Amino acid sequence: MSTRAPLEAAILISGRGSNLMAIARECLAGHIAARVAVVISDRADAPGLAGARELGLETAVLKSAESAGGAALEVSLAAVLEAHGCDVIALAGFMRILSGPFVARYVGRMFNIHPSLLPGYRGLHTHRRVLEAHDTVHGASVHFVTAELDAGPVVLQSRVAVMPGDTEATLSARVQATEHIIYPRVLGWFAERRLVWRDGAAWLDGRRLDTPIVEDFRATPRS
Ligand code: GAR
Repeated sequence: MSTRAPLEAAILISGRGSNLMAIARECLAGHIAARVAVVISDRADAPGLAGARELGLETAVLKSAESAGGAALEVSLAAVLEAHGCDVIALAGFMRILSGPFVARYVGRMFNIHPSLLPGYRGLHTHRRVLEAHDTVHGASVHFVTAELDAGPVVLQSRVAVMPGDTEATLSARVQATEHIIYPRVLGWFAERRLVWRDGAAWLDGRRLDTPIVEDFRATPRS
């Protein structure tokens, strides 16, 4: 682990916050060289906020989210990020689309997790669409955020099997269990400066990732 000061991280949520909790626990355990400076939600009723507070984390709600448009939301978001001196931003089920200028300001230090094997199934309802397509493999992707939705360079993907009889609920649970492993792993690499953004691409240990690293969970026993 690096001898440098831990990174100051912001985690952005809109809902349950299971990825937030997985990341925060790894930071608190010292497995990621980062400190969760603030958990930010665009929804005051996001269940993840309670979990964050139980872990003793600072939280912020973007109050203008319901009443104002995207620009006001981003002004509010930038103010919170700057006030906390955030070095890295993790979108963890944050269901807002950020504008190109906003993303440009943080490019190279903002990550997202998306529940599909990108570039497949960008956007919403990925589990349903995978089932409708009768795919046999599914997964999640951790990627750098760029202006185009769900299109930034992917660092790490998990692969899971789609099982006969799967529903959206069973499939999403199987994918999410892997999200909780791969997202902290990527943030750990970034915090150790093993993972960097250079020339519009992701580089890990000095090697440009033209294709993502893949972790295959298909052989892992599952419930
Ligand atoms: C996660 O499964 C994440 O992949 C997905 O939202 C869920 C949030 O769950 N993100 C997206 O769909 C982004 N397009 P969580 O609140 O329990 O972490």
